[in-house]
Amino acid sequence: MRLDFNENTVGCAPAVVRALRRALDRDKLSTYPEYEGARMKLAGFYGVKPEQLVLTNGTDDAMKVICETFVEPGDVLLVPAPTFPIYQFFHEVAGGRTERVYFDENFRLPLKPMLKALKKGVRWVGLANPNNPTGTTVALRDLRVMLEAAPKTAFVVDEAYFEFSGETAIPWLRKHSNLIVTRTFSKAFGLAALRMGCILTNEETAEMMRRGQNPFPVNSLALAGALAAVEHAGDALRFAAEIRAEREKLSRWLEKLAIPYVPSKANFILAQFGPNSPEIGRRLRAKNILVRDWNYDPRLRGFLRLTVGAAVQMRILRRELIRLQGLMEPSRGHRAKFWATGESS
Ligand SMILES: Cc1ncc(COP(=O)(O)O)c(C=O)c1O
Repeated sequence: MRLDFNENTVGCAPAVVRALRRALDRDKLSTYPEYEGARMKLAGFYGVKPEQLVLTNGTDDAMKVICETFVEPGDVLLVPAPTFPIYQFFHEVAGGRTERVYFDENFRLPLKPMLKALKKGVRWVGLANPNNPTGTTVALRDLRVMLEAAPKTAFVVDEAYFEFSGETAIPWLRKHSNLIVTRTFSKAFGLAALRMGCILTNEETAEMMRRGQNPFPVNSLALAGALAAVEHAGDALRFAAEIRAEREKLSRWLEKLAIPYVPSKANFILAQFGPNSPEIGRRLRAKNILVRDWNYDPRLRGFLRLTVGAAVQMRILRRELIRLQGLMEPSRGHRAKFWATGESS
């Protein structure tokens, strides 16, 4: 069981596979991709105009496009920490440097230090919402305060896990010209292999990004998969609802075992198993269960990140974890707080 990449653990909608089989047609494969109709359908799905949408090879490519379009050597990227490392990666490839504001001890994003850092002149802010690896969200009211405090800074809100949180900044695109939202088909839609995503922003910014992009940024199969996925979005949303229910069940179970965890709005949970967590990870691997060990981050010693899967998969995970209970010493970690009782935004 791959519970280390926050993927869809049961796979995409069967209708998507059928659409991909239909797309594997010799005539269709011999022609270059057509984007106009697809952009219209996807824009309709997200509730924006087609001119506001940029097609990308997943979120990773979206970040590359954003950096290639806007980042000059020496520019500053501001990120909460810990977060998804791709923002920093492409920003630094473009010659920029990164400033970090650490989450507080309750894994909340402290607004004051963010506002202070923004005053120093920041090219863009990378905000995963929900955040990876914490699963927490930035309160939308805090995002609004930041957007208004730094109108010349681009705020890139990465909504890769939107289907599991239900919170989106898309309606604010009309009002805030410094807002960029990214979406992906890699998570709830179960199409990580196809590499398909979108940037949503105002028309002018989208046009600037498209001009600098590869003329054929996504391939026809990725496009066919994405179109079928939105047509059958009900399947992904049902999967997301199951994951939300399983996330709550796993949370209650961790509480019963007195394992501190960060309340999550995504399809994974960051939990503190204590100093033996690398060994717990290794033992799970020996049982063919992969989880993500965060011990390499000094602030997350003792933590494992568990992707939440379907009910049957979570039963297997709990069964194997119970066998390792003797190794769990959460209170011997560098923090012994129970965030489960705190609030997550
Ligand atoms: C916050 C966040 N954004 C984006 C991605 C990856 O998205 P994609 O597959 O669209 O590149 C991940 C994957 O783990 C993620 O955690």
